[in-house]
Amino acid sequence: MAKIFVTRKIPSTALDTLMKSGNEVVVSDVDRALSAEELLEKAVGVDVLLSLLTDKIDGEVMDAIGPQLKLISNYAVGFDNIDVKAASERNIVVSNTPCDEVNEAVAEHTWALILALVRRVVEADEAIRRGAYHGWEPGIFLGRSLKGKTLGIVGLGRIGTMVAKRAKGFDMKVLYTKRSPEPEIEKELGVEFKSLDELLSLSDVVTVHVPLTDETKHMINNETLGKMKKGSYLINTARGPVVKEDDLVSSLRDGHLAGAAIDVFDNEPVVNPELIGMEQVVLTPHIASATYESREKMGEMAIGAIMKVLSGEKPENIVNPDIWDNRRK
Ligand code: DGY
Repeated sequence: MAKIFVTRKIPSTALDTLMKSGNEVVVSDVDRALSAEELLEKAVGVDVLLSLLTDKIDGEVMDAIGPQLKLISNYAVGFDNIDVKAASERNIVVSNTPCDEVNEAVAEHTWALILALVRRVVEADEAIRRGAYHGWEPGIFLGRSLKGKTLGIVGLGRIGTMVAKRAKGFDMKVLYTKRSPEPEIEKELGVEFKSLDELLSLSDVVTVHVPLTDETKHMINNETLGKMKKGSYLINTARGPVVKEDDLVSSLRDGHLAGAAIDVFDNEPVVNPELIGMEQVVLTPHIASATYESREKMGEMAIGAIMKVLSGEKPENIVNPDIWDNRRK
């Protein structure tokens, strides 16, 4: 019987399966992210930790939990909240939840944000709610049409590709940048590879779909924002620190960018107050993957990985597969 701590109740029926698995399962009884101290209070001595992206799990936390910790199952696709190197050094397996349900949800939310931004949906909604609608007027809330415009996708992985696929329906030209070109996807979707600088200077809408790494941290900053077309839009549904939020605010303030739609923030849950005051900005609280379908599947994968690891079977969704043969048992 393994000891398992789930750091927050997750919206997935798979949690019931885990509860009935015959293991000693404790689910945090507070419905919010735990502080480091609160997490350790419950996690010391467990064999498995089911963590969320709001839990910072570094080597120190792993050591404090104890030498029996064998698996950190992260309920997210991204795993930048976990020091995977430290886990590997300790032979602790780390798993995540990469699946099409999440990718599709993020791609769809990206489009929701693009449309809300260029057609000023949030501003217009807000105007009606404060009683400012007095009948049809020819000049109110003029937005931008997408047809014939250029969409620049930074990072053409699964999510970026799904965003590109959907761009076809809006008759947009699609450029992408990535470490190396994807000739098959280019053929299938008619997208064009560009360097980051070229993409930024040619795109009317730039959307970011890269993981957060040392290389991508603050890749969208004063310099790269300055390379974007004047009057263009930026969308971020990837990870907050990919965009240097203060630099984005300056670019919006001086009118270089026409607008931005942001789902993830540099220092969550803190949001730059200036950003909050800007009409040309659409903000959502890190919900790009928040569909019933994706949360259910994430639960299945996170808990599936736990059940497999406990029975000695190697799950597919391990982020440090190299340590499998030497893993803690
Ligand atoms: C992820 O899975 O990485 C999302 O950002 C949260 O669901």
